[in-house]
Amino acid sequence: MPLPFTLEVFVTFVFCVLCVQSKRYEPNWDSLDSRPLPSWYDEGKIGIFIHWGVFSVPSFNSEWFWWQWKGSAPRKQVVDFMKKNYPPDWTYADFAKEFNPPAGIYNPMHWAEIFNASGARYIVHVTKHHEGFTSWPSKHSFNWNSMDVGPGRDLVGDLAKAVRQFPNLRYGIYHSLFEWFNPLYLNDVKNNFTTTDFVSGKTLPELYELVNTYHPDVVWSDGSKGPDTYWNSTQFLAWLYNDSPVKDFVVTNDRWGNGIACHHGGFLTCHDRYNPGVLQKRKFENAMTLDTRSWGYRRDMKLKQILSIEEVLETLVITISCNGNILINVGPTKDGTIDPVFEERLRQLGSWLGVTGEAVYGSRPWTYQNDTHNSDVWYTMKSMETDSKSEMSVYAFLLKWPDSDILKLGAPQASSSTVVTLLGYSGQLDYDYSPGYGLVIQIPPIPFNKMPCEWVWVFKLTNIAN
Ligand SMILES: *[C@@H]1O[C@H](CO)[C@@H](O)[C@H](O)[C@H]1NC(C)=O
Ligand SMILES: *[C@@H]1O[C@H](CO)[C@@H](O)[C@H](O)[C@H]1NC(C)=O
Ligand SMILES: *[C@@H]1O[C@H](CO)[C@@H](O)[C@H](O)[C@H]1NC(C)=O
Ligand SMILES: *[C@@H]1O[C@H](CO)[C@@H](O)[C@H](O)[C@H]1NC(C)=O
Repeated sequence: MPLPFTLEVFVTFVFCVLCVQSKRYEPNWDSLDSRPLPSWYDEGKIGIFIHWGVFSVPSFNSEWFWWQWKGSAPRKQVVDFMKKNYPPDWTYADFAKEFNPPAGIYNPMHWAEIFNASGARYIVHVTKHHEGFTSWPSKHSFNWNSMDVGPGRDLVGDLAKAVRQFPNLRYGIYHSLFEWFNPLYLNDVKNNFTTTDFVSGKTLPELYELVNTYHPDVVWSDGSKGPDTYWNSTQFLAWLYNDSPVKDFVVTNDRWGNGIACHHGGFLTCHDRYNPGVLQKRKFENAMTLDTRSWGYRRDMKLKQILSIEEVLETLVITISCNGNILINVGPTKDGTIDPVFEERLRQLGSWLGVTGEAVYGSRPWTYQNDTHNSDVWYTMKSMETDSKSEMSVYAFLLKWPDSDILKLGAPQASSSTVVTLLGYSGQLDYDYSPGYGLVIQIPPIPFNKMPCEWVWVFKLTNIAN
């Protein structure tokens, strides 16, 4: 007998309160690592990384400009650039005055519109890089934040608000635990991390402030020297997962102290541009750049140093077939514009996803990641529930169009009900299959102007036998 409506609701409510409360995470890695990643993250596959800050003013050489100019191993090229272009007493802080994106040129809604058009599902915004400048009016970064100097506005709040106008997009933050030149940090390092003045006065207050103010969907931490016990990483994450306003949907990465990256945390980033090319048990993220030389904008970039759309798509396809997400970095100019070459890549990506999105969003790795016969083919798969049955499809991403009119695949085994199609092209494709030889797909003579897309075509194999 069905329960009366109100009782049913009540029982469900009590059950849910219990099931949510029963799992509290302890401040240790075993417990924190047992938290399932909120599903939106794996389903979304594609994020955009934004490096924008004081380093966007010199916009020369790399976003590690300050380090290459004043760090322990200055780069001659950068030192010469400063000698030729700036007075001798110029400091890094002087650049902040010129970080002043003009109204009417900088418009976070323009950015968000481009990000949405790219088909990305989340943004990771650098809110503080290693030189400590906060892009929000932090109470813990006196006179070295975007309200007190430079833009005179809350760049984090502005972008979070713009991005959230688009229902497909989530807003996440990047935050550097350490700061290269902060005397408090340098003193803690000198004391071999037996003192924690920097963590208690700066890092943790900032992280709590960011989470409580902006409710980020991603907390993407970056670190350098210092054990996770010094950073109090497990205490922070336990709060984030148990009690914070974002506990139900936030995802985190793995850069939470010495030796933690690639082992603990939410998704694994390991090292920059991590793209292992083989299936990974744990969810990972390939954080990479469109400008192959820098995360921040460089006025000295050359076209040949920018990834082509073919290279972007190849990286994306290999990454997702091995259980990764891709985080594609763009460095805006100091004026708050996105260089048209980056905008073009992002819009190309979006146009491609308009045809192939079915094989990307919500997909999972298949038994095979790449084909055993054709090294230009990579796979994903998806199960779909239709009215009465569940149907499995494998998607073959073809990086290079074949020289002949057949596509031979070694990994998939056809069954009597296998159907082969090309995403964006109507009708079924003919094929032959024999166990020893593989699946041979007949590619129809498609008129040039009827090609579903210009790069990386996706064949859909439904109801195969393996
Ligand atoms: C956001 O992107 C989607 C997918 O490309 C598109 O259909 C939609 O129109 C975009 N929304 C806006 C407001 O531009
Ligand atoms: C610093 O601390 C670590 C871990 O506590 C210890 O192994 C190391 O010997 C210390 N180094 C110095 C120079 O005191
Ligand atoms: C770090 O965590 C320990 C243990 O919970 C706590 O006693 C300490 O106050 C925390 N330190 C900081 C800097 O928050
Ligand atoms: C692709 O698959 C083969 C096995 O068929 C494997 O040996 C190879 O390393 C894989 N990766 C790449 C990048 O081709």
